[in-house]
Formats: sequence, structure tokens, C-alpha cells
Amino acid sequence: MELLERGKLRLEWAREHMDVMKSVRKELKDSGVLEGMRISMALHVEAKTGILALTLQEAGAKVRLASCNPLSTDDSVAVALNEEYGLETYAKKGESNEEYYANLNKVLDLRPQIVIDDGSDLIFLLHTERKELLSGIWGANEETTTGVIRLRALEKEGELEFPVIDVNDAYMKHLFDNRYGTGQSTFDGIFTSTNLLMAGKTFVVAGYGWCGRGIAMRAKGLGADVIVTEVDPIKAIEARMDGFRVMPMLEAVKQADFIVSATGVKDIVGKEHFEAIKNGCVLANSGHFDNEISKKDLEDMAIGKRRVRDFVDEYTLKDGRKLYLLGEGRLINLAAGQGHPVEIMDMSFAIQALSAEYIAKNHEKMEKRVYQVPYEIDEKVGRIKLDSLGIEIDSLTEEQIRYMNDWREGT
Ligand SMILES: NC(=O)c1ccc[n+]([C@@H]2O[C@H](COP(=O)([O-])OP(=O)(O)OC[C@H]3O[C@@H](n4cnc5c(N)ncnc54)[C@H](O)[C@@H]3O)[C@@H](O)[C@H]2O)c1
Repeated sequence: MELLERGKLRLEWAREHMDVMKSVRKELKDSGVLEGMRISMALHVEAKTGILALTLQEAGAKVRLASCNPLSTDDSVAVALNEEYGLETYAKKGESNEEYYANLNKVLDLRPQIVIDDGSDLIFLLHTERKELLSGIWGANEETTTGVIRLRALEKEGELEFPVIDVNDAYMKHLFDNRYGTGQSTFDGIFTSTNLLMAGKTFVVAGYGWCGRGIAMRAKGLGADVIVTEVDPIKAIEARMDGFRVMPMLEAVKQADFIVSATGVKDIVGKEHFEAIKNGCVLANSGHFDNEISKKDLEDMAIGKRRVRDFVDEYTLKDGRKLYLLGEGRLINLAAGQGHPVEIMDMSFAIQALSAEYIAKNHEKMEKRVYQVPYEIDEKVGRIKLDSLGIEIDSLTEEQIRYMNDWREGT
């Protein structure tokens, strides 16, 4: 009962602070485009996701929800969605690998027309063990960088069986979600699990993409001495010009008090790094999968392991050095924190809801490939957000539009 009440209040809080979704909800209800649709979702099951799922349900769709990560579920929200709102939710925090896949399969048993995925595990199940459902799928949305990378590989091999909208690369998603969302919520997770000070510490960020930039920016603001590691020379120069030290991970680990990975690539910190790493280093991952910090290498090299706080595992190496892995190497902002701030997910999920509506309207003419989010959807969400903030902007005059479209002008 306590869980149910807490979940209801969390959903209410999220709904109150999601102004863009308020407007999208009204539009979807009025249009009736999603009426009777079957939608299967695998996203981090917490309050903001709950509002997306409820928005689709309120628009008339039949919705089932599972988690896209075994550690990121807010159980109170899962209970409230099931019991208060009758939205079939299959997720619990700390589910085993078997439970995780069983839940994804239950969500697919709905025989969806539209799939909303984060990391592409649902989409990959459909391409492997659940091929019998493929013919009924109209299309899917993918939420995150890692999922999009996997889908592009599938598309390149000519194996993608339905259209997918790459929600991650919408401006109104990655500009804010990956940068300001991950930037803030990564520290939410680190502080909740460790209660340690950031000021004056050496903080290493692996990857200077959208997420890494946000994390580095916030670490600097908290007074840390920030080092960036990269493989892309352009991103590395950008990091340097933004004021950060740049060096290979093997050098960085010798100085690091904290290391956070945000690359989407495996084995960013592995055996050779653990051999050189500074005693007491705290390791966390904000990338999608739990393979960026090699737990396998850490387990192989450690002579002792114990849980010293919630979400903190202490590993003792042969020579007595101790390392601290947060959230079992899973995305720390969701494993130990509360995920992205509500206002950030408001914009990302508005893109999700409008992209689902786009598939419902246009699936017959869509091909089996990865699509960008149509610019009109991006712009629309931007305008609704500005409205909700009470901010007005200028518009181009007729004369200015003509000037921009005529190459003779301006001479
Ligand atoms: N924690 C969250 O809530 C959250 C939110 C959004 C995205 N993500 C995930 O975070 C990861 C990064 O996303 P992004 O949008 O920043 O991607 P991105 O492609 O913008 O950036 C990734 C960066 O990592 C760099 N990189 C790759 N291999 C590296 C290596 N070996 N060492 C150092 N740097 C390396 C790349 O050059 C690139 O600059 C993905 O897995 C994504 O799915 C997590």
C-alpha cells in the first residue's frame, strides 16, 4: 500500500511538471490517431516514463511497459501504473537476467503495432526469437545512442525488418537529454551512493560526446579538476578548448579520484587500467550498457569484494589497493539516482509520443530503415517548450525570407 501511494504521488509530481506533455496529451486525445493501437514499450520504468505510457493510454492505445534495464525500475511507479491506472507494467528493481527477458517477452505478447524501445533489446528480440510478430509491426522508436548504433548496424546488413525513428538524434532530445539531463543526474547518482565531495577532486570523463560534455561541465562547476579521454581527435580538441585536460585513460587512471564513462563502447576501463589505477578511485558508468567498466576484469583481479554502502561495491586488489564500483557499473544516474530531471524528459517524451503518432499516420509509406525525427516535430516541441516558459522569440519577415532564398541579394 505504501508503495502504491508513493508511486501515485510520484506520477502526479511528474505530470504537474511536464508542460510539453500536457499539450501533446490534449492533441493526441483530440486527433484519435492512436485509438485502438497496441504499443509495447521498454524504457526505464519511473515516473516520467509512466507519464509517457499514460499519455498513450489516454489517447486510446493499449499499452504494455517493461524496463530496459534490470536496475532502473522505480517499484512504486510500477505498482501504481498496474494498480491505479490498469497499465500492464512488467518490471521490478533488481530483476535477474531471466526475469528481464521474460518481462520483455510479456510486453511483446501484446502483438504490438508500434514499439518504443531504449537500447533496442525489444527490437532485437523481434528480429531473433519473436520473428512471428514481425508482420504486424508498423514501426518503432529508439530512445538512445547505443540503440541507434545497433540499429544502424542491422540496417547496413539489410536485416532491419521495419521502419525505426531515431528519437535520440532529434535536437529536442540529445541537445538537452544527453547533455543537461545526464550532466545533472550522473551527479545525483554519485552523490546519493557515495556522499563524497567533488570539489578539489580529479574527475575523469571518458567520452566527450553529448553526455560526456554535460558531465564534464557539471564536474567543473562543482570544483573538480576535470580530465577528458577521447578517441576522436576533433572531440579531444573541443574538450581542450573548453578548458579540460586531455590524455589517454592509462595516464588518467593514475590521477583519478572519480572516473565516469559515457562512450557507448565496451572495456573503457579494463585490466591494464586496473593495474595502474590510483587507490580509492570511484568508478561509475553513464553509458547505456554495463560493459564500459569491465566488471569481469575487476572480478578476476580482485582478492576481495564487499558491499560497503547501497550501490557501492568495494574491490580489493592483490597489492591492497581498493576501488569502488557504483551501481554494478550500470548507468549510475538511474541505478542510484532518480534519472533525468522531469523537465528534460518532458521534451524527450513529447518527441516519443509525436513520433509514435507519426508512425501511426505514415507507416504505409515508410520503408524498412532508420528515420530521422521529422524536423516539424522537433520544432513543434521547441515551440511548446518556449510557450510553457513564457518566452517569445522573433520571426523572420517576408523580406528576410526572400533575402535568404535569393543568392543575388546582399551584393
Ligand atoms: N545515462 C543516461 O541517462 C544516458 C542518456 C543518453 C545517452 N546515454 C548513453 O551514453 C552513451 C554516450 O552517449 P552520447 O550521446 O554522449 O554519444 P556520443 O556518440 O555523442 O559520444 C560518445 C563519445 O565517446 C567517444 N568514445 C568512443 N570510444 C571511446 C574510447 N574508447 N575512449 C574514449 N572515448 C571514446 C566517442 O568518440 C564520442 O565522442 C551511450 O551509450 C548512450 O546510449 C546515457
